[in-house]
Amino acid sequence: MVAQDLSAVEAIERSVYTHPWTIGNFTDSLEAGYHCWILEREGRVAGYSVVMIAAGEAHLLNLSIALPLQRRGLGGELLRFVVKLARDHAALTIYLEVRESNTAGRALYAQYGFAEIGQRRGYYPAGAVREDAVTMEKKLQ
Ligand SMILES: CC(C)(COP(=O)(O)OP(=O)(O)OC[C@H]1O[C@@H](n2cnc3c(N)ncnc32)[C@H](O)[C@@H]1OP(=O)(O)O)[C@@H](O)C(=O)NCCC(=O)NCCS
Repeated sequence: MVAQDLSAVEAIERSVYTHPWTIGNFTDSLEAGYHCWILEREGRVAGYSVVMIAAGEAHLLNLSIALPLQRRGLGGELLRFVVKLARDHAALTIYLEVRESNTAGRALYAQYGFAEIGQRRGYYPAGAVREDAVTMEKKLQ
């Protein structure tokens, strides 16, 4: 992912989340040296992921596929790439948070060997109230 990708990334982000990241969140991630990758199909941005890797731990911060391209295996493809990326950078564990109501995300991660290890109360904005996050991990040893 480079700065030129950010308008396409933001358009997808806004269409798949009720509380999307801003362009500033992606710019900060790039500037912080996080592992930011896009998945392309036919020369266009089809999805993207943002991963922070440090001290043997990878944190998957964002993984999204454009709405019209969902349910075609691309999310799984990108997640397999993220797992390899984490391994290649000597991570022993990958952690992530996902909204409790995010059936698709939780099913995707479970399919790829992530286990639900806890909950963070009120982690996400959700209108007037807040929504809990489910924390998931995958051991890479
Ligand atoms: C979660 C997401 C990345 C899945 O991407 P995708 O390309 O549709 O996923 P795939 O086609 O590779 O599907 C892989 C598995 O995920 C699960 N899955 C995907 N979409 C699902 C849905 N709508 N309902 C239930 N399970 C779903 C299934 O287990 C699926 O396996 P199957 O097709 O054999 O049943 C996509 O729905 C998305 O971008 N959502 C918005 C952003 C988001 O919530 N990201 C995750 C939280 S950070």
